[in-house]
Amino acid sequence: MFNSKVAGIGHYVPNNVYTNDDLTRFMDTSDEWITERTGIKERRYADRLTETTTTMAIEASKIAIQQAGTTAQEIDFIVFATLSPDYYFPGCGVLLQREMGMNEIGALDIRNQCSGFIYALSVADQFIKTGMYKNILVVGSEKHSFALDYSTRGRGVSVIFGDGAGAVVLQPSTDPKKGILSTHLHSDGAEAEKLAMYYPGSSAGLWLDEKPEWPEQELGGMLMTPEMLENGTAFPYMDGQAVFKKAVVKFPEVIQEALTKNNLTTQDINLLIPHQANLRISQFIQKTLKLSDQQVFNNIQKYGNTTAASVPIALSEAFLEGKIKEGNLVCLAAFGAGFTWGSTLIRW
Ligand code: UT7
Repeated sequence: MFNSKVAGIGHYVPNNVYTNDDLTRFMDTSDEWITERTGIKERRYADRLTETTTTMAIEASKIAIQQAGTTAQEIDFIVFATLSPDYYFPGCGVLLQREMGMNEIGALDIRNQCSGFIYALSVADQFIKTGMYKNILVVGSEKHSFALDYSTRGRGVSVIFGDGAGAVVLQPSTDPKKGILSTHLHSDGAEAEKLAMYYPGSSAGLWLDEKPEWPEQELGGMLMTPEMLENGTAFPYMDGQAVFKKAVVKFPEVIQEALTKNNLTTQDINLLIPHQANLRISQFIQKTLKLSDQQVFNNIQKYGNTTAASVPIALSEAFLEGKIKEGNLVCLAAFGAGFTWGSTLIRW
């Protein structure tokens, strides 16, 4: 059995900066409301026509691959986490494989939203541990901006999210005490509809209280109706308060689970990188676990919530800022739609 180490990290964020004030041009909101409730000051939006979830992932991956001292051709497996793929299908993994000129390696897409990167890392870790692969590219990338409701109707959701990508290369560690110590994954579908994009989908609204009108016909039908675009049900839905309440319980729980598994305590954590959902959530976690400011990394102020990309972007920035040193204990944790949540501890 091998341990997996993070051999390279990279991130990419689009050039277009949208401040809170910029959003007031589209909807009834304010810098004061967004800052107070979320901590976000600005976010990045991908170019509408030339940047996609895959193109951003490629930029982040190039950096991670170079830093790992390897090449795209030596990558032997791809795990790609996103909720905003270029196509409904196929997933972004194969597009990345094609555009980076990689060999005919396996490309796995992960659909676990905010905790997607932790799930992706966990899967990659198992493949490294068994010796099956030696160079795995793990990506989290999102282009939220193409599918948000930028009218006042959608302000409770749209002000939070931003675009960007992060990637790491996992390789076997020669030092058994270093690398990913453990990963912990959870789900509870009881509140799946509290944070979701229902359409396009095959449910025909089966699980929803308010079912849409579908065209009368014997077979087939439509994945989405024009009415959905008009009444806003085609956009992502979030019961923000329900998500918030669950997040502040599950984050500390899953971090503690990882520590207990490894006979460590909160004081042993050098850097906690929580999924950047909302600065208030990060502050709750910090307070509950009694962590110092130096022990918790946040960059949501600059990028908003980038879902599957938030953890690798933050990891990459923290690394570039010299906040992660050899021998440090780094904890990554995430919670989001599903609900799904997870954590990992990495000895750097
Ligand atoms: O990463 C995936 C997981 N997602 C999360 O973790 C998100 C968790 N939830 C949250 O972060 C918060 O619930 C939000 C930031 C989304 C919302 O904050 P809130 O304090 O829960 O606000 P609310 O939805 O209860 O809305 C309060 C008021 C409402 O007005 P009324 O009904 O009290 O008159 C909203 O219409 O604030 C209004 N509002 C806004 N006002 C200005 C909602 N969005 C906005 C806005 N600007 N952008």
